[in-house]
Order: sequence, then C-alpha cells, then structure tokens
Amino acid sequence: MTPHSSHANSPLPSASIIGTGSFVPKKVLTNADLERMVDTSDEWITTRTGIKERRIALPTKATSDMGAEASKRALQDAGLDASRIDLILCATVTPDMPFPSTACFIQKKIGATGAACLDLGAACSGFLYALETARQFVATGTFKTILVVGAEKLSSVVDWTDRNTCVLFGDAAGAAILQHRAKGRGILGTVMGSDGRHADILCLPGGGSKHPITPENVKDKLNTIKMSGKETYKFAITAMQNAALAVLKKTGVSAEQISLVIPHQANLRIVESLADKLGVGLDRCYVNLDKYGNTSAASVAVALDEAAKSGRLKRGDLILFVAFGGGLTWAASVLEW
Ligand code: UT7
Repeated sequence: MTPHSSHANSPLPSASIIGTGSFVPKKVLTNADLERMVDTSDEWITTRTGIKERRIALPTKATSDMGAEASKRALQDAGLDASRIDLILCATVTPDMPFPSTACFIQKKIGATGAACLDLGAACSGFLYALETARQFVATGTFKTILVVGAEKLSSVVDWTDRNTCVLFGDAAGAAILQHRAKGRGILGTVMGSDGRHADILCLPGGGSKHPITPENVKDKLNTIKMSGKETYKFAITAMQNAALAVLKKTGVSAEQISLVIPHQANLRIVESLADKLGVGLDRCYVNLDKYGNTSAASVAVALDEAAKSGRLKRGDLILFVAFGGGLTWAASVLEW
C-alpha cells in the first residue's frame, strides 16, 4: 500500500472544523430483533462485531433528510446561516437517486442557495475523503465555507435475509463545517489511497450502468450489499493500521500525542487491533458502533459530533481519524481541534 499524501506543514491556509452536527433515526433495531428475522444470535453479533443495535430510517425518509438535519445542527453549532455555505460535499453510497446529487437535495432542504453541490463516493472512507477535498478548496481560497456531510440509508440496500451482512449496518448522518481560522491549525495532514483490484469484495452491484434495475437483477438481489466478510476484515486491519501510522509519520505527530482516535465504526475487533498497533488504550478510541452499527460514510462524522458534544474534545487536542471501505479505499487525517 502506498498512501498518497497531502501536505503536512503546508504553507497554504489551514482548514478548521468550526461546527459539527449529526442525526440518527429514532427507530432502534436490536440484536434480539434480528434473532427473529435471520438465523443469528445476540451472542454471535456481540462477540464478532461489538454491535448491539442500529438505527433504521422511516421508509418515507431519504438520505438527504438525515443529511439535512445533521447539516442544520452543524450550522447551529457553528453559528452560521445556510446562506454562508459556498460548497456542499456529500459522501454517500446510498444517494437519494443516481442524480441529481444528494448534496443538491440537502441544499434545498437547508436553504443554502449560494452553494455549489456535489457527491463523493469512497464508501466508508467517504467522509475523510470529503474532508480532505474540502480542505484543498479552503487552502486554495476557492471556497471559504464548506459543509461536509456523510449520510447513509443503508437499510434501503441491505438484504434482510442475509445474516452475513444485515446484522452489520445502520442509518445515520453527520456533518462538519470547514473554514480557515487565523489561529486554528485544523487538519494537519491526510493520507488516502485505494486499491480497485479488490472492488468486488464489498460492493452494491445493481442500480448502476453495469446492472441496471431490471426485474431479473432485482430477483437476483443485485440491489443489495454484497460482501466477503473475511477478506474485508483482513484488508481493514492492515489498511487502518498502515494509514494511521503513515499519517502520524507525515504530520510528525506521535501516537502518545493523540488525545482521541476516531476510527470508522465497522467492528470493535478492528478498532481494538488499531489501538494495539498504535499502543493506545481503547479508552482513547471513540466507539459508538455498539449503538449504531456500521453507517459507512456517516460513521466518522457522527462519532466526531458525539465526541465534540460530549466534551471529549478540548481546543488544541490532536485527533486521529482513520477509515477503510469498499473500493477498496482507506484514509487517515490528523486534526488539531
Ligand atoms: O465498512 C466496511 C464494511 N465491512 C466490514 O467491516 C466487515 C469486515 N468483516 C467483519 O467484520 C467480519 O468478517 C464479520 C463480522 C462480517 C464476520 O466475522 P468472522 O469472524 O469473519 O466470521 P465468518 O465470516 O468467518 O463466519 C464464521 C461463521 C460462519 O459459519 P461457518 O461457515 O463457520 O459454519 C458464518 O456462516 O459465522 C457464520 N455467520 C453467522 N452466524 C450467526 C455469519 N454471519 C452470522 C450471523 N449470525 N449474523
């Protein structure tokens, strides 16, 4: 793996996170509920993944509804009006529809009439990819205020008869607002990379140009997530560790200096192995996958907002973000809060 890095110690203006927000649907689906749906058990799910429950959006709600709610909360947190947003970047693998972008629907729902909008797809690494993309625009002065959203309605693409996948995923959205702040160092550096040779081990094959929506493709369940769990797991362990170590090296920050690791919330065992490799206790890793399961592009965004709102972050703290996902993709960033 050769991560491509963006510049640490860059002479360009930095980008700070000046507000965060998140939204999770009210409906809770517990492991006990899943025991009644497929051949599984609370014991299996808990020991293999750490997940206890996940949230499920109402059938009438789309990804942009959750994204808009998280965005409104981030705007409120930043004390900004939606009219100040120059760009909305939405990371998602469950867009409202192939086009227009989910970012455009979020724009409409929050009234950010002056913004340019686009979606970005890097699966579970999507929020970190989007954050870094936003940073580049802030650094070059192209855009001043950027709303970065990670939002997913994974319940709409899960095969609820497949115990290998249906126990893992949930719905949620998180948002962060980026701006240059004279005194803030913000994002210190990022590494990100991909390996498309393994695109097929975690994918949603249907609904695109390769397998359009046809009665046959729907009958074959191509409109649902396909995953080789074991292979994904092995990749995840290596990718998370390598990306984390690479970004620490790049930014000249040691693991001991990191106040909080905010990892992608896929599996507690993956987080534990990352903590082990970094030599940090699990108490320095933010974990909420027990409550929400894997929410793909929303996962790091929601965890960041929860960590901020629960008082786990103090000004000047160094945060390490790490994610991996379908693609395969990986990303890690160090941010000074
Ligand atoms: O954001 C990226 C998204 N994906 C991931 O992060 C997934 C990464 N992979 C994982 O987290 C793990 O591989 C899983 C949690 C998906 C699976 O854990 P595992 O320890 O790798 O189990 P396994 O796939 O090797 O399956 C072990 C056994 C199998 O039975 P046999 O063949 O040994 O008889 C499975 O059929 O567990 C069975 N199994 C289940 N049993 C009860 C698979 N799913 C379930 C289930 N309940 N839900």
